[in-house]
Amino acid sequence: MEEKRSQWGTRVGFVLAAIGSAIGLGNIWRFPYMAYDNGGGAFLIPYFFALLTAGIPLLILEMGLGHKMRGSAPLSFRKIKEKYETVGWWAVIITFIVTVYYSVIISWAINYLFYAFNQSWGTETGAFFMGDFLKATGFWDFGGFEFNVLLGLIAVWGLNYFILYKGIKKGIEKASKVFMPILALLLVLITLRGITLPGSIQGLNHFLQPDFSVLLNPDVWIDAYGQVFFTLSLGFGIMIAYASYLPKKSDVVNNAFMTAFANSGFSFLAGLGVFGVLGYMAQAQGVPFEEVVSGGIGLAFVAFPKAINLLPAFKGIFGVLFFLSLVISGLSSTMSLIESFSSSIMDKFAMGRKKAITLVCSVGFLGSLIFATGLGIGILDVIDHFVMAYGLAVVGFVECIVIGHLWNINRIKNHVNLVSDFKVGNWWNFAIKYVTVLGLGYMLVYKLIREAGPLVTGNFDKLYGGYPVSAIVSLGWGVALGIIAVAYMMRHVNWNQNV
Ligand code: PHE
Ligand code: NA
Repeated sequence: MEEKRSQWGTRVGFVLAAIGSAIGLGNIWRFPYMAYDNGGGAFLIPYFFALLTAGIPLLILEMGLGHKMRGSAPLSFRKIKEKYETVGWWAVIITFIVTVYYSVIISWAINYLFYAFNQSWGTETGAFFMGDFLKATGFWDFGGFEFNVLLGLIAVWGLNYFILYKGIKKGIEKASKVFMPILALLLVLITLRGITLPGSIQGLNHFLQPDFSVLLNPDVWIDAYGQVFFTLSLGFGIMIAYASYLPKKSDVVNNAFMTAFANSGFSFLAGLGVFGVLGYMAQAQGVPFEEVVSGGIGLAFVAFPKAINLLPAFKGIFGVLFFLSLVISGLSSTMSLIESFSSSIMDKFAMGRKKAITLVCSVGFLGSLIFATGLGIGILDVIDHFVMAYGLAVVGFVECIVIGHLWNINRIKNHVNLVSDFKVGNWWNFAIKYVTVLGLGYMLVYKLIREAGPLVTGNFDKLYGGYPVSAIVSLGWGVALGIIAVAYMMRHVNWNQNV
């Protein structure tokens, strides 16, 4: 018996939830560094090119698919053709794995939120993070167990459980309506502080000063595609699941554009704030800017704590605001990740929400515990590199092939045009069928050669991150192939309802 599918209460609720998923750590610590590393202001050209020709078209595709089929990724793909269900599982299993370690990073941020009150990370912030905090040792060494990380994980999974258990309207929508305005306010405060510090102008120059010669470098274009993909949460089945809860008459195209532009605006402002602070740090320490700049985990947990130590006033408050923004943007992303996977379980096994959420959150929480040991950090890095860097792009590529070439893309187009004020034209077909396929295809081949090359030629020291071969093979390639195998098996498991 099919239960009536839940629905968002308001359009704003859906858009805020989609924006909440899109805005995440990637906006705060990935985008600014990408721009810096890829020609500063000139990076905006490939970035907007990729956004308009691949990111937004795929966002419309995913939202349109979920809205038309009214199902999670596996169910929606199955409705295209039975065998394509595998593609849906592929996406959502990746999603589940990402959730397991993404929640660990949020747990770190929660801990740092408390450390920020009195800068208890000390002056050697790098040594503190890797040693005192993570207790990281050799790659395969178990190291210590981090009780603080465990507490943070209980908070992350507990909050998600509490919100998702209540469902779409009373849970995700309500939480997004609280989280998103707070996040916007935090961003404005951080940015204002960042750009008004002495020396910040130096940082902003590094962030924005265009070096147009990079436009000839294919790496820059690949990074732009990768960033756009990651930043819009594409390839996770998230937007498919979220759109499946939209009422029948909903302007899909408009919603997609709003989500994409809000996300990019956030990235840009975050870039100003982050680089302003780094510029200040370089000046305060009297070192060249190149020495203070970093991206990723190092930016948030090593460079920023150091910069906070150096602030002229309100260190604690600024630190709390910064880590709170990481926590909130992270939570609204995990909500969407867990919902994407759980809704697939609900669809497949005709399982009620409460049961599915309880199951997924319990298993996910237990999985996260691996990362509360000293063993966690290297594993997290390798899996993240493989899964995020191109697991997703592969899924996106396959999505475009299945819908653009193997099926009839006009079915999605006609559907979204029926419900949207702003109609998509043939440019959209072209973007999905050719531009995105070529862009992602090129990126994949290029990365594959770089990734597999050293394994084939035996140049093991060229492997990602200098990690041991055993780690790259088991956690990288092993996990990547394992996911496909499990996805294939899932498609052969019987459905518990008539679809
Ligand atoms: N869109 C997120 C970001 O930019 C990344 C992400 C994708 C997080 C999917 C969760 C789920 O940070
Ligand atoms: Na984002």
